[in-house]
Amino acid sequence: MSAPTRVVVTGATSGLGRELAVQLARRGWRVAVTGRRLPELEETARRVTEAGGEALLLAGSVTDDAEVRAHASRIRAAWGGLDWAILNAGVGESMDAKEFSAELVRWTLDVNVVGAARWLEAVLPDMIESGSGVVAGIASLAAFRGLPRSGPYSASKAALVALLEAARVDLRGTGVDVVTVCPGFVKSEMTARNGPDSMPFLMETADGAAAILRGIDARRRVVHFPWPLSYPTKYLLPAIPDFLYDRLAARFGPRRIKRRSGEAGELLKKKP
Ligand SMILES: NC(=O)c1ccc[n+]([C@@H]2O[C@H](COP(=O)([O-])OP(=O)(O)OC[C@H]3O[C@@H](n4cnc5c(N)ncnc54)[C@H](OP(=O)(O)O)[C@@H]3O)[C@@H](O)[C@H]2O)c1
Repeated sequence: MSAPTRVVVTGATSGLGRELAVQLARRGWRVAVTGRRLPELEETARRVTEAGGEALLLAGSVTDDAEVRAHASRIRAAWGGLDWAILNAGVGESMDAKEFSAELVRWTLDVNVVGAARWLEAVLPDMIESGSGVVAGIASLAAFRGLPRSGPYSASKAALVALLEAARVDLRGTGVDVVTVCPGFVKSEMTARNGPDSMPFLMETADGAAAILRGIDARRRVVHFPWPLSYPTKYLLPAIPDFLYDRLAARFGPRRIKRRSGEAGELLKKKP
């Protein structure tokens, strides 16, 4: 019998990350889970074990270089390496450009882009050496145009899409596959803060995670869903003229700033 597949899921203390971890555990896989909130991380690890997987709990932030390196070393020591890495950790706060905060932009990029990059740096050498591996980064449909009141988030996801696309091409022939995932709206702590703004085609967390795993299993280069939202967003929206985009975005985009997490609130207080 072959050894269970080894996977890390970053940002597995809630939402999509926790659900991905549990669904992978049902396959009997070894699932390393990361995140900063220890009680929530312990709960995810408990659910992984309950679902039939083996959990490795790695508490810490994707913004800490040393911590990410230490987590990768712990995985190597425990399991000898990784087969899959799902880079899911992310933050998403609204910002109206009329109240521009460079600090909010810096923080969003540090978590959503550099956080994924830290993990790529930590796991790719072993995958390349072993001649196999899968890296999936959770971007967003918000990557395809600058969404109103979502500048930092859209910018971070656009950067992640480009980073993963370049990596996918660079890694051709190494045996390492790169999958870019662009979900629409999925129920999670992040979207729970969206308030009354409309979230078309909002999906259950379990359905969102299942769609992600189907895409990764199939080694799709770019996984996007749900299709009634993702096809227009990925293929039509980037093609429409800017003047038309401005009108449509103002008409249909989020009208208000969503309720902020405590973390973002603290960052905004730092503004001079
Ligand atoms: N839900 C959607 O509609 C949707 C749509 C498109 C893309 N996405 C993307 O899907 C991913 C998961 O989001 P979600 O919707 O499931 O939201 P969520 O429930 O808020 O989960 C976010 C996860 O990221 C982790 N995280 C945040 N900052 C971190 C840091 N510095 N270090 C380590 N982990 C960190 C959080 O853990 P801790 O706070 O414990 O650290 C949490 O586990 C994100 O990348 C998000 O942008 C979501």
